[in-house]
Amino acid sequence: MDKRRLCGLRGYTALTFSVLVLMFSAVQAEPIDADKEKKVQRARRTLITISTLDQMTKLPGDIGPLPSVPIPAANLQTPAKVELGKQLFFDPRLSGNDHWACATCHNPSFGYSDGLPRSLGFGDEKELGRHSPTIINIAFNSSQFWDGRAATMEEQAMGPIVAVREMNSDPQVMIKKITGIPAYNEQFKQVFGEQPSLKNIGMAIAAFERTVITGESAFDRYEKGNKKALTDQEKRGLILFVSKAACTQCHSGPNFTDSSFHNLGLPQAGPLKKDLGRYEVTKDPKDKGAFKVPGLRNIAMTAPYMHTGAFATMEEVVEFYNQGGGPGANKTPKLLKLNLTDSEKEDLVAFLKSLTGALPQIVPPQLPSRS
Ligand code: HEC
Ligand code: HEC
Repeated sequence: MDKRRLCGLRGYTALTFSVLVLMFSAVQAEPIDADKEKKVQRARRTLITISTLDQMTKLPGDIGPLPSVPIPAANLQTPAKVELGKQLFFDPRLSGNDHWACATCHNPSFGYSDGLPRSLGFGDEKELGRHSPTIINIAFNSSQFWDGRAATMEEQAMGPIVAVREMNSDPQVMIKKITGIPAYNEQFKQVFGEQPSLKNIGMAIAAFERTVITGESAFDRYEKGNKKALTDQEKRGLILFVSKAACTQCHSGPNFTDSSFHNLGLPQAGPLKKDLGRYEVTKDPKDKGAFKVPGLRNIAMTAPYMHTGAFATMEEVVEFYNQGGGPGANKTPKLLKLNLTDSEKEDLVAFLKSLTGALPQIVPPQLPSRS
């Protein structure tokens, strides 16, 4: 074969190959919205001074005080329902061996998480694949779980009760057990007009969870007009959050999340070899390794961080973002190297700490006895 033809053929093959790669990556990568991207680039370069910040009536990214808690019409709150849900949340008898309660992995003493990188699973206490997220402010979530696979809190709450690796209950056996506890039976009759079922247990627990909402933080007092509520360092952190570090690309709105899913390139950690996250729900290649953007209120209480629980401190999280995220495949194009100075990193952490508000006082309830 003549040499030129061969080269041409090679060139052609190479071209086809790169077109294929391009098509493949175009399908895989998270799409970029050009208009939005321009705005973000502008925000990254905008220099905001503390005095300009103090004069803003509305903060970038719509960050500001929380609205009132959304309550679904199909599960209205009543004090009796919340009280019942609280008992169930703390009651290990919802589990197959009477040892695992929701509060085991969502413990108020650890900011309603469990302080572990990954929770220990039912029975053998082997590590689960993902970190236990807090239930603080989940009433504002658009979806539940790291991959958003449950649409509602009611649906979510039924999941762990029957999940083999979490509470491992046979629903029929568990319902019989709860129905056999007279004080529960009485409360279910009063609240729902019926006997306990997996469905109304989920409803009562969700009603309780809707009361675990953060109170006013220093940030909220600042946003509402008390310009002395934040220190200069916290204000510098807030400025970085909305400009140079561009955190509000995803952590926007009153609860500091836009409810979207992204792959930050986090390395896998824990017992799972791989975790495709949101992709398992949507089967959309752009969602490979993408996880839900968590809210950041009271974040100082809920270490360790991320779905892998890989970061023990907020400083580690900020350093991760400073590097432009992790090395993993299919990473979002939204994370860039930030070139933050050491004092800027400290400012950002100080700002994150100013998002802590008081939680309702909680005393673990007296659980109804079997007879
Ligand atoms: C063995 C530990 C364990 C137990 C027990 C447990 N959970 Fe969880 N919970 C987790 C883990 C781990 C996740 C994250 C799983 C995922 O995203 O795939 C989670 C996720 C959640 C979420 C989602 C939060 C969010 O921001 O998306 C809620 C709500 C929740 N659990 C409530 C409950 C309730 C209610 C119970 C009791 C009925 C319960 N959990 C029992 C470990 C546990
Ligand atoms: C591209 C969207 C995006 C941007 C930009 C972003 N985050 Fe995140 N953030 C996420 C997602 C998604 C997670 C959860 C990732 C996971 O676990 O896989 C997360 C997790 C976190 C966590 C841990 C929360 C927890 O409960 O474990 C903190 C803290 C955090 N981000 C702070 C920041 C800060 C500070 C910035 C700016 C420097 C920032 N984020 C920028 C999407 C983003």
